[in-house]
Amino acid sequence: MKNSIVVLDFGSQYAQLLARRVREQGVYSELFPHDAPAAEVMALRPKGFILSGGPASVYAPGAPQIPPYVLESGLPVLGVCYGMQALTHALGGTVNPAPQREYGPATLEVLRPNPLLPEGRSPVWMSHGDRIERLPEGFVVLARTANSPIAAMGDLRRRYFGVQFHPEVQHTPRGGEILRRFAVEICGAAPDWTPENIITESAARVRAQVGDEPVLAAVSGGVDSTVAAALVHRAVGERLTAVFVDTGLLRAGERGQVEKAFREALGARLVVVNAAEAFLDALQGVTDPEAKRRIIGEKFIRIFEREARRLGQPRFLVQGTIYPDVVESRAPERANAHRIKSHHNVGGLPEKMDFELVEPLRYLFKDEVRAVGEALGLPRAMVWRQPFPGPGLAVRCLGEVTAERLAKLRAADAIFTHALEAAGLLGRRGSAVSQAFAVLLPVKSVGVMGDRRTYQETLVLRAVTTDDFMTADWARLPADLLAEVSRRIVNEVAGINRVVYDITTKPPATIEWE
Ligand code: XMP
Repeated sequence: MKNSIVVLDFGSQYAQLLARRVREQGVYSELFPHDAPAAEVMALRPKGFILSGGPASVYAPGAPQIPPYVLESGLPVLGVCYGMQALTHALGGTVNPAPQREYGPATLEVLRPNPLLPEGRSPVWMSHGDRIERLPEGFVVLARTANSPIAAMGDLRRRYFGVQFHPEVQHTPRGGEILRRFAVEICGAAPDWTPENIITESAARVRAQVGDEPVLAAVSGGVDSTVAAALVHRAVGERLTAVFVDTGLLRAGERGQVEKAFREALGARLVVVNAAEAFLDALQGVTDPEAKRRIIGEKFIRIFEREARRLGQPRFLVQGTIYPDVVESRAPERANAHRIKSHHNVGGLPEKMDFELVEPLRYLFKDEVRAVGEALGLPRAMVWRQPFPGPGLAVRCLGEVTAERLAKLRAADAIFTHALEAAGLLGRRGSAVSQAFAVLLPVKSVGVMGDRRTYQETLVLRAVTTDDFMTADWARLPADLLAEVSRRIVNEVAGINRVVYDITTKPPATIEWE
């Protein structure tokens, strides 16, 4: 990579965010564990290093240290929080516990003009227990806060910098500018990481991998699988066949959307497998959530394998793996070890299939996947689609999954989500609501319609706001919107006489109900 910045991960929960923020400045950045082999890191031919924060104390036995090749490379280095302390320690300065931990907002006061920090005072986010007591030789203090006399330091000759605060978090509003100054001005990395360049580069990589052979893609209609297939289509054209399995567990209009996107917008070959009956048969009488997921996952794989055979068993299969998945699988101790739901590979494909994987999104963050999708000409509604679980409506149709109950759920879900979209709250860049859907409960209650008693099922509305789907808050939707949605569902969807709104956060609840 011609213009790139390496982020070395010392265990900070924000390490990924550092790479993402650098890329937002248009400079490619990749994350490596702090002890990754030097050859692997240097193969990228980076223009500079950022050392992330981390939970350790540099003077504790066994604390992770800066690997020698970083300082031997002669490239600029920016240490963030722990990274700054590790830099200080490595270069002969002193780090000690601070008189008190500093956590939260602070005002940064820049003390002298320098290439890293814009002049003046600005809010920054602090989170540290140790601090720099004595600077290493060649360094000067660049900025301070009320509690940190050395909030930023620099050796302008060697182009080494350290900041005690976190430029990568939103609470440091000028953080993006600081990272841009480091990457572009100090390291001299040209900001050429644009969607067009990403597409050109990924397409070339795909072509080099697959040569003249045919490629298969399983598309679910989700953002990642769709953009991955579209990118491969750009690379290999009609040698790509996309397969879409209609499980009968999809939302209203979804199949049509996928057909339109692939056939009309991309002009790609799409095979649609109508498997609704097979899935319903397999789910008959099943009410246990994990059993539903298992049955759907297995069925999906069997159907997909059959299709692949029918299509002449291509060697290559497109997979929509994105960068956060790659990073998490490298650091399994950080991934959520306790299995709450068997998410993975449900409605996806097992790792051990007889395919060689083509992963064109392997180095992209979600925002970049979306930007690439837009640049490839995919419909906006698809690119900004909210997440949808692999097992589909089956895990939102609590109790037994039947065609009749699915139809009710689908109709109510469409009323709710369309109302949110019409109000500008869902399904576009920067929408207030991250995910919203309906859940049908096998709980009947008494109602009255006209003069007649009803005894019908209950529908739950669920809408959440979240950054990462690991934690979530329930969306404070306007009461009038909820009233209108409730009125319409009870009037228009036969068999539902009560609508409730889920006001539970995650944790302790999960976003989905099963
Ligand atoms: P939970 O319910 O665990 O969901 O809070 C977190 C996010 O994951 C989505 N989800 C799934 N995604 N396959 C997927 O690809 C699945 O089986 C699955 N189950 C849940 C869920 O919609 C939410 O966005």
